[in-house]
Amino acid sequence: MPSQRPFVFVTRRLPGDAVERLGAAADVEVWPERLPPPPDAIVRHAGAADAIVTMLTDRVDAALLDGCPRLRAVANVAVGYDNLDVGELTRRGIPGSNTPGVLTETTADLAWALILAAARRVVEAEQSIRKGEWVTWEPGFLLGHDLAGATLGIVGFGAIGAAVARRAQGFDMRVLSWTPHPKDDPRVEWVGLEDLLRQSDVVTLHCALTPETRGLIDARTLGLMKPTAVLVNTARGPIVDQAALADALRRRVIFAAGLDVTAQEPIPLDDPLLTLENCIVLPHIGSATVATRSKMAGLAATNVLAALRGERLPNCINPAVYDQA
Ligand code: DGY
Repeated sequence: MPSQRPFVFVTRRLPGDAVERLGAAADVEVWPERLPPPPDAIVRHAGAADAIVTMLTDRVDAALLDGCPRLRAVANVAVGYDNLDVGELTRRGIPGSNTPGVLTETTADLAWALILAAARRVVEAEQSIRKGEWVTWEPGFLLGHDLAGATLGIVGFGAIGAAVARRAQGFDMRVLSWTPHPKDDPRVEWVGLEDLLRQSDVVTLHCALTPETRGLIDARTLGLMKPTAVLVNTARGPIVDQAALADALRRRVIFAAGLDVTAQEPIPLDDPLLTLENCIVLPHIGSATVATRSKMAGLAATNVLAALRGERLPNCINPAVYDQA
């Protein structure tokens, strides 16, 4: 006899007890492979699902939703949700959720790891040893730039931007921010984007990827930055025009960059950025700690469980679905 329990499809193995918690209320299938399921595999496996738990690598669009007509929730294991077609979800009355809050501090830590590593050439310095280039202590070897007392420009002042700003207090930095909704925070000076780029020694990106922010950092805006400046991106790759960045780094228009995200992920091994010693590229590990990834998975499960009980998703990204009901 077919099961009367709801069915949840999870597109990747998850840390923590999220799958176990889902299993108490539903039949659960987890995609077991390291690579994400292709869209047709999601439709094959989740065609009868009441809910899916998705990763930022899964594109949830009209075609996928056509193939999964019973969905009552799509729970994304990420705070960013540019991989979900929110308009299409809303049109179909399907609530979606993300994982705000739980990854704020962890991602801010990684932004700071990149700020420090890029400004002080940490990766290049470590590699110099392995390449046999460290022959003696030299006054002019691997000189970077100071952070203490420098100016930090934060593009997008949501929870992660604010957490990055808090850490800057420890470095006695002046903090500028350009954001659509300035907060009441006396430690921050709210400025226009061009002023921020002109004045900052470090520019760190913490805005969502939207049509307005796609390609925000391009040849023109990079040209406004100081030749000693560092650019850090832990938000989404397409906010930066990568070809323009490679050119700017090669010509020393700016000093260095630290990227946790790239336009294409994984970044192709022949990407020009990977040939530049003043560019650090990480494999999108901003939230990658045991505790944080477990909390993200747990929050996605909490949202699915709410949907299965017929309740409002606690982290709903398209609350308009409830107005339609
Ligand atoms: C997010 O949550 O959006 C991050 O990019 C992945 O942790």
